[in-house]
Amino acid sequence: MRARILYVVLAVCLLVGLVGCGGKKSTAPACRPNCTYKDMVVGFLQTGSEGGWRAANSASFRETAEQLGITLKFYDSQNDLARQVAGFHQFIQDPEVNVIILAALETTGWEEVLKEAQEAGKIVVLEDRRIDAPPELYATYIGSDFAEEGRKAADEMCRLLEGSEKKNVWELVGNVGSSAAKDRGQGFRERMGQCGIQITKSQTGNWSITEGKQVTEAWLKETTDVQGIFAQNDEMGLGAIEALKEAGLKPGVDVKIVSVDATAGAFKAMLAGELNVTVECNPLLAPQVYEAALKALNGEQLPKWVPSQEGVFRADMPNLKEIAESRKY
Ligand code: AHR
Repeated sequence: MRARILYVVLAVCLLVGLVGCGGKKSTAPACRPNCTYKDMVVGFLQTGSEGGWRAANSASFRETAEQLGITLKFYDSQNDLARQVAGFHQFIQDPEVNVIILAALETTGWEEVLKEAQEAGKIVVLEDRRIDAPPELYATYIGSDFAEEGRKAADEMCRLLEGSEKKNVWELVGNVGSSAAKDRGQGFRERMGQCGIQITKSQTGNWSITEGKQVTEAWLKETTDVQGIFAQNDEMGLGAIEALKEAGLKPGVDVKIVSVDATAGAFKAMLAGELNVTVECNPLLAPQVYEAALKALNGEQLPKWVPSQEGVFRADMPNLKEIAESRKY
């Protein structure tokens, strides 16, 4: 009898030991599998406030959180990568935060902090920007196919330059470490050969009107032998338009311009005949992102990427004014 009791005691200790040693303490949220939006406390690491697209993206997250009853802790990384990583650590250590949403300034350097978040039981969802990290370290990525946006931009530039003797194109690049800049540039280069486009100048304008104008001004001082400008976002395109006008050239006529985002500024420039095309990049991602985060909070497995659906808008569209008036940003 004593032997049997001993075996039972040993078996129980072994079982407790195994669970205690081998099995990690469950860090699943207490509300799982019945979490609701009201259980969500989101730490949102936004890039900064670099232009119209970003303003619309931030508004989407603030307004949708309000509508759904989500507690949103908004962190402005001020376009500084070190600050964004520090903010990520801050949310990992914040016991109230159960979901971290990241709009990554750059594609690399996230693996360690993602592992820490996972060990702390925090759900991580990527919005807007993809990153180079093992997909098992985040729940999902919701954002554009930037390479496809680049391919669309090249197709549009080919159409605009059809019949042109020369096809010299200047490229205004976004933040060089970002997935948006890398992938748009890659996509444009995949397609430009189909019509003989040459990228004769390429430099970062860091997504901004000011820098887009400064870079274009400097190029124009070297040469005016340019037939097209591919601006990786509308702000840099608007900067290029200002520079061309100050140099006595007609933007949209003497030099064709294709940009990306489809913000209100781009529609205004197209209606003025100064911008030829803007390729849409959808910033209104919050409803999709919060829905995915809630599913992940309740333990659902998600596809690792949910691409946004996006279009192309051209200055010669007959109903462009009506489209512009109907848009949210
Ligand atoms: O990631 C999307 C890009 O980020 C937009 O095209 C640009 O305007 C913003 O800075």
